[in-house]
Amino acid sequence: MKQTQLQFPDGFLWGGAVAANQCEGAYNEDGKGLSTQDIAPRGIMGPITAEPTADNMKLIGIDFYHRYKDDIKLFAELGFKTFRTSIAWSRIFPNGDDAEANEKGLEFYDNLFDECLKYGIEPLVTISHYETPLHLSKTYDGWVNRKLIGFYERYVRTIFARYKDKVKYWITFNEINSVLHAPYMSGGIFTDKEKLSQQDLYQAIHHEFVASALAVKIGHEMLPGAKFGCMILGVPNYPLTAHPADMLATLRQDREILFFSDVQVRGAYPRYMERYFRENGIAIAMEPGDAEILQHTVDFISFSYYMSSCATADPEKKRGPGNILSGVPNPYLKASDWGWQIDPQGLRYFLNLLYDRYQRPLFIVENGLGAVDELVTDASGKQTVLDDYRIKYLQDHLLQVAEAIADGVELIGYTTWGCIDLVSASTAELRKRYGFIYVDRHDDGSGSLARYKKKSFAWYQQVIASNGQSLFEKE
Ligand code: BG6
Repeated sequence: MKQTQLQFPDGFLWGGAVAANQCEGAYNEDGKGLSTQDIAPRGIMGPITAEPTADNMKLIGIDFYHRYKDDIKLFAELGFKTFRTSIAWSRIFPNGDDAEANEKGLEFYDNLFDECLKYGIEPLVTISHYETPLHLSKTYDGWVNRKLIGFYERYVRTIFARYKDKVKYWITFNEINSVLHAPYMSGGIFTDKEKLSQQDLYQAIHHEFVASALAVKIGHEMLPGAKFGCMILGVPNYPLTAHPADMLATLRQDREILFFSDVQVRGAYPRYMERYFRENGIAIAMEPGDAEILQHTVDFISFSYYMSSCATADPEKKRGPGNILSGVPNPYLKASDWGWQIDPQGLRYFLNLLYDRYQRPLFIVENGLGAVDELVTDASGKQTVLDDYRIKYLQDHLLQVAEAIADGVELIGYTTWGCIDLVSASTAELRKRYGFIYVDRHDDGSGSLARYKKKSFAWYQQVIASNGQSLFEKE
């Protein structure tokens, strides 16, 4: 068989990703209001507290708010073409429903984006990444309330006007489909998950869809030339067995994800949801104009990918651990220390699945391995982490990305998750590290916050410098 030359396109956006609430810290500085994260010391699935508590690692994070200049310098040394971060909504509008924006918050992101641009790093900005202003959550029940669309619109207009010359790539909501599983963190919905009705949940989703499409519409008007994307939590499913009932279960489980991209890419609700709504007593309240707004579809589809999963019609089969959503473990795959099933080929499959379905450019904005790292002294006397396991994970995934590009998938770029160690989202711990840069901070609150380059630092630097070609060199 003829060998295909694997390569990454010119101008491919290599980089890394973080989210404000997981790295900035400074949770109450310079006029910032509280966000849903500030009272969630145990992460996405954990309980919430009445007030911020000292054991919440996110309150200090990795102190990126004060150290971003040094960190971005390291990203520049890595050769990043892009850096994905989010804007903490409550830095800009401390309560979410304020009439005026907080100038200090706006200034912070001005400085942050300028620092990136100084090194030729393109900022890729998530508008809402699991950090809804707490006031919007407590007073309005988050996205259940239609008023959130107006508050989000004001926020979006403010940041678009302010950063129009600095930011060309925007993502409207992080992992929008995660609201099905984590309504508080993802949708700012304060009502207990157990008490939340399907009606309110899907109404909240509708409000997010309208807000997202509105952001795309406004963005296209205010920032011609900029690109706006949706973002989904991508966990592709395989049937656990070849039984037809398992195949149908797979279709159903995939649609729990693809429903979100279907609406944001095609501009209307898919017909398969009509039956689901009918059978679950859901009637989405649509206002005049909503259908038209939804037609402002995204320019690209971004997604996170860490693992795949299996679907089955057998209710006796137990679900395994996973990234917010999970399925039945795949007997052919190994898992990370946190039980997430490692599947590089699944990434190639998912890229093809999305591209076949939509023919719209894709962007992998999260991928990586959360692991326990040990700081050691190497032969030259430098402190580092010998993270060959991380290099292998990323190498294996990137080879599959290259295959997908050869398959014909249009891919804008690839940003690894947590390019610098940060606080994890699901468990709010720092023990689970993803970075090329080790941060000396620990879950008991100790640590100097100093930064150290891991072995993977030089490896990724090489990958970027060679535009991926180093991946194909045999050892
Ligand atoms: C994604 C989120 O779900 O996965 C990130 O967008 C998160 O915020 C990442 O950090 C990895 O998950 P975790 O729980 O290991 O931090």
